[in-house]
Amino acid sequence: MNENTMTQTQDEQKRAVAQAAIQHVPIGSIVGVGTGSTANYFIDELAKIKHKIKGAVASSENTAQRLRGHHIEVLDLNSIDELPVYIDGADEITEHLHMIKGGGGALTREKIVAATAKKFVCVTDQSKLVKVLGTFPIPVEVIPMASSYVARAIVQLGGHPVLRQGFITDNGNVILDIHGLQILNPVELETNLNQITGIVTNGLFARRGANVLLLGTDKGIHTMDI
Ligand code: A5P
Repeated sequence: MNENTMTQTQDEQKRAVAQAAIQHVPIGSIVGVGTGSTANYFIDELAKIKHKIKGAVASSENTAQRLRGHHIEVLDLNSIDELPVYIDGADEITEHLHMIKGGGGALTREKIVAATAKKFVCVTDQSKLVKVLGTFPIPVEVIPMASSYVARAIVQLGGHPVLRQGFITDNGNVILDIHGLQILNPVELETNLNQITGIVTNGLFARRGANVLLLGTDKGIHTMDI
């Protein structure tokens, strides 16, 4: 491994895109903040400019805790009128900026904050860019009493649901991870999953995808937008 390769680990790519995302934070604004290791790097960068922002909206309890640890004010989404930008990672993303999210189980609050934001800036390392979504299992957050019913409905759609063991979401629900679906039409599948009673949210972010992708690569940051 040469020196250049050594400096381009997955973690370094995550850190680099987290730093680059700061340019998408308007001065004096409230920032929507995602969940996961890349979002954590972003929070650490945001701390360096905390005097230039009004505060943040968190997509999970973990993120809120990290923001507060940096003395960044965490605001209730209901208390604000507009959110110019949401910065978050993804588990998979396509060139159309459709994503699978929820590997960390925070998909519902992530989707709510993303829906509210004017611009979604996705920050990932290069391993997350895929041609077709679905190698990473799609997480769905489910009301606990509906988990067997929802699992049967997912089997009808051709998927293999697996209950995430020992995991309860910030909203008190369970997660089913759907394996084995090749997702040729993510917008349609997202809509179909939304129709299953008992599913709170599914981890396909296609109806509201990202606006910008900052992709960390061996050759530096590649920006894609639509
Ligand atoms: C959290 O629920 C997820 O949606 C994350 O955004 C996703 O898992 C990406 O995480 P990393 O930044 O840790 O890869």
